[in-house]
Amino acid sequence: MKFLPRWCRNEKEVESKFIAQFLLPMLGYSYQDWYQEVRYKNIRFDFLLIPMGLNKIPFKIKRNAYVIIEAKHPKEKLDVHIPKFRRYLKTLKVRYGVITNAQEIRLYKCQKNHIYLLLQCEGKNIYQYVVKWNNIIGKETLMNQVKMIAKSKGSIVKDDKLSNKYTINQSSFQTSIQPLNKQQQMKVIAVYHNKGGVGKTTTVVNLAAALAHQGARILIIDLDSQANTTFAVGLAKFTDEIDDDLKDSNVIHLIKSSKKYSIKEVARKTSYSKDNIDAIPAHINLMNEERTLVDVAASRTRLKYKLAEVKDDYDYVFIDTPPSLNLYAKIAIITADYLVIPSDLKPFANEGLKNVKSFIEEINDDKEAFGFKPINVLGVLPSKISGNAKFNQYTLPKRRDSIIDRYNLPLFETNIYERDDLAKAFDKTIFVGDLEIPDPKSIFEFKADSMAAAEFEALALELKEKLGE
Ligand SMILES: Nc1ncnc2c1ncn2[C@@H]1O[C@H](COP(=O)(O)OP(=O)(O)O)[C@@H](O)[C@H]1O
Ligand SMILES: [Mg+2]
Repeated sequence: MKFLPRWCRNEKEVESKFIAQFLLPMLGYSYQDWYQEVRYKNIRFDFLLIPMGLNKIPFKIKRNAYVIIEAKHPKEKLDVHIPKFRRYLKTLKVRYGVITNAQEIRLYKCQKNHIYLLLQCEGKNIYQYVVKWNNIIGKETLMNQVKMIAKSKGSIVKDDKLSNKYTINQSSFQTSIQPLNKQQQMKVIAVYHNKGGVGKTTTVVNLAAALAHQGARILIIDLDSQANTTFAVGLAKFTDEIDDDLKDSNVIHLIKSSKKYSIKEVARKTSYSKDNIDAIPAHINLMNEERTLVDVAASRTRLKYKLAEVKDDYDYVFIDTPPSLNLYAKIAIITADYLVIPSDLKPFANEGLKNVKSFIEEINDDKEAFGFKPINVLGVLPSKISGNAKFNQYTLPKRRDSIIDRYNLPLFETNIYERDDLAKAFDKTIFVGDLEIPDPKSIFEFKADSMAAAEFEALALELKEKLGE
């Protein structure tokens, strides 16, 4: 029996020609042993395998034999989908998960919240590994295992009716697809850490580009007087001060006055991504203005009120922040609904997380006084992570765990690794005559097929999921 990946030209064909007609029969399953298009809470996945003939075994034990399978388009890289897939496995609490685009196929195992890659091979070679696959997720193997567990626990349920309540229709797995909620509200997301150089600006710029790429309408607000984001989105192309057209219309104007200047007047179209992204620039003058603004309580809420006027124009607003605990960082957190905290997870940055936490708590009190909801911390985003294999195997998991255990903060599943392409995209220049001027690009414009682009795409998907979209 042979399979050729080129038989599958789209995701549907991966489902039918590879999974249903080839893989599952090879593993001993018949059509009665699986369900397609299964939905659980807000998760939808392609296949759920439940071997028939386990009726008398309680659901808790039987679930050890459940396998989910996700099919992807043959042209899509599996790497992009792995963080989301891992979260599915954790949420569904099934033991095994298979993900494939027919070109490649991987098997993951979920055990006590840890997820391991067990097998991986090219689709065209799978028949060479039949035995291996069968030994792990073959129907017979799984049924025997589950029966053994049930026996050892003495929990074979005699009454069929009782166990029926755990069958597919009555359990919370539903076999129908529900329409997604299309009505979307503008989400304001601050990207903040009080330490510099952890990847805040890189995250704002490329995460925004990834979402725009997926069809979202985006506004970026730069609240850092260093104006790195303003530069990175291509709004600071001037080479000397005379061309500085940002001075007269930037974020400070929004903050300084309640009546004058609206978001619409100050926002500009950016050039760093081919999708439409607007941005509100920062300016070095923010530094000088801070002293006077600190005493003006109203300056803290103006940006938030002005954003409410454009709530139908954007899906996401990203606010980039200064690496400090100053007024502008405060304004960002007052204005935002959600927070992402990039961190390189190095001990020094992690110590800083304590400051971030107490800063947020303090500002949440202010928010409450203003009648706003507290900020929702979406998580720490591992950023600028070394690609070293040993580090990834031994150190990274410990550092990730410590964010949850020691700092009690949520964590993104996606890691943003240290990649030269990200820095190069930012430093890109063009020549106009003999003048070399900056022409920064998003990673998607600079190198769409890079690993960095795939990581930001995965991050965008994870963000949407965290936001319940
Ligand atoms: N994942 C990454 N890989 C490689 N270089 C990165 C990465 N993230 C950021 N950098 C580089 O590190 C420097 C600091 O990043 P930046 O995003 O400006 O951090 P922050 O805004 O927190 O100060 C920049 O030169 C940027 O190009
Ligand atoms: Mg920055």
